[in-house]
Amino acid sequence: MNFTKICVLGLGYIGLPTASTFATHGLHVVGVDINPNVVSTLQNGELHIYEPGLRTLVQAALKSGNLEICTQPEPADAFIIAVPTPFFSDRDGIHDDEAYRLADMRAVTSATEAIVPHLRKGSLVILESTSPPRTTVDLLIPILEKSGLKAGADFHLCYSPERVLPGQILRELIENARVIGGIDRPSSEAGRDLYAIFVRGEIVITDATTAEMVKLMENTYRDVNIAIANEFARLADRFGVDVWEAIGIANRHPRVKILRPGPGVGGHCISVDPWFFVEAAPDLARLIHTARQVNDAQPHFVISLVERAVGALAGHHVAALGLAFKPDVDDLRESPATEIIHELQNAGAHVKAYEPFKPDADLPGVTAIPTLEGALSESDVLLFLVGHTNFKQLDPVKVAALTPARIVVDTVSVCDPAAWEAAGFRLFRLGVGKSNQ
Ligand SMILES: NC(=O)c1ccc[n+]([C@@H]2O[C@H](COP(=O)([O-])OP(=O)(O)OC[C@H]3O[C@@H](n4cnc5c(N)ncnc54)[C@H](O)[C@@H]3O)[C@@H](O)[C@H]2O)c1
Repeated sequence: MNFTKICVLGLGYIGLPTASTFATHGLHVVGVDINPNVVSTLQNGELHIYEPGLRTLVQAALKSGNLEICTQPEPADAFIIAVPTPFFSDRDGIHDDEAYRLADMRAVTSATEAIVPHLRKGSLVILESTSPPRTTVDLLIPILEKSGLKAGADFHLCYSPERVLPGQILRELIENARVIGGIDRPSSEAGRDLYAIFVRGEIVITDATTAEMVKLMENTYRDVNIAIANEFARLADRFGVDVWEAIGIANRHPRVKILRPGPGVGGHCISVDPWFFVEAAPDLARLIHTARQVNDAQPHFVISLVERAVGALAGHHVAALGLAFKPDVDDLRESPATEIIHELQNAGAHVKAYEPFKPDADLPGVTAIPTLEGALSESDVLLFLVGHTNFKQLDPVKVAALTPARIVVDTVSVCDPAAWEAAGFRLFRLGVGKSNQ
């Protein structure tokens, strides 16, 4: 199939690089977003998100005249949907049970509805948003067929998950293997022809529901493996073992690769996507559900470790070091650090947080201090929550000069026990029931 004009709905971390890459490969691209700030920012050649290289790419796409930024879709040869698929939060009033989460598909539904008036015979529609199994078939087809056209017979429809790593999106968009799941073979082939315009990785063709499952399986696999690492940390703590040492030894087995435990699982993918399986098949997704619960309870386990270190939390001054959901990024979405800080404050502790990758972090209920010195100066306990490289490189002797604190709680194994203890700190490490703790 040949493409001249495409329409990309949703201009965030996924849609904007995708739209711009197609535009710089010669297609006429209409980029659509419902957020007027996003639209006006982009129309002015500015960016509302940060991703290395993206500014240059978007500006080149706009300058070429191939990328237009609009609030409404237009008729096109292909439509790509890249809108958010979070779960409902307690604020939505849909659901207030912490133990169970439901997918919020409102953005996918309204983006699909917006395409209906512009759908033509021979058009291709692609859903990229991470979605519960059968979304393409059960949610998109009935909406798109309101056009009077029949899926398969009159228009092509695919699911194609996005698997890029934030920070590397522009390279991975082109180099990663791309999965195209059509509702029938001609749809898959049309999807393959579209992405072949810029994808250099392998293009793997399958059906739509398999492609949806592949994406969810990838992130669920990570979540379950982190859950077992977190559970090993709790077991090691009980049995007087150092989990970091034990994992290091176990991983010398040629077929074992245990991940690192930590303060919980955050981000907008791994902590969200497994719920789509749990919601779709609660009777079957038992291990997946339990893994989610283990990881969601990990912040609470960290609180018990801080209590062990200092006794009652009320009145203590804690320097919370790291707010991001993983090392060496500035992304604070769904970060377990925020939950830990709220729980400490609810118990009466005073918390100052420091995030080196986002010194001006603005999170509800979190006092973020722009410098390490500021966060440390009046604290009596240091709590490491993210394994940032620059935390690993801290010199404990210099840290000791910046703070009256002599207690360190390390949930991410950034502190070398011998060095920190030699500098006068008492160290409490997640997953370590050994030695002086
Ligand atoms: N960001 C990632 O690294 C990543 C990786 C893999 C998969 N995904 C998935 O890709 C999807 C998009 O994620 P993202 O990170 O790009 O989200 P995002 O929040 O960065 O951007 C989504 C954009 O869609 C817009 N939008 C919402 N409803 C719309 C509508 N009806 N019509 C047009 N625009 C609309 C929003 O205003 C926003 O600008 C999600 O399902 C996500 O899970 C993201």
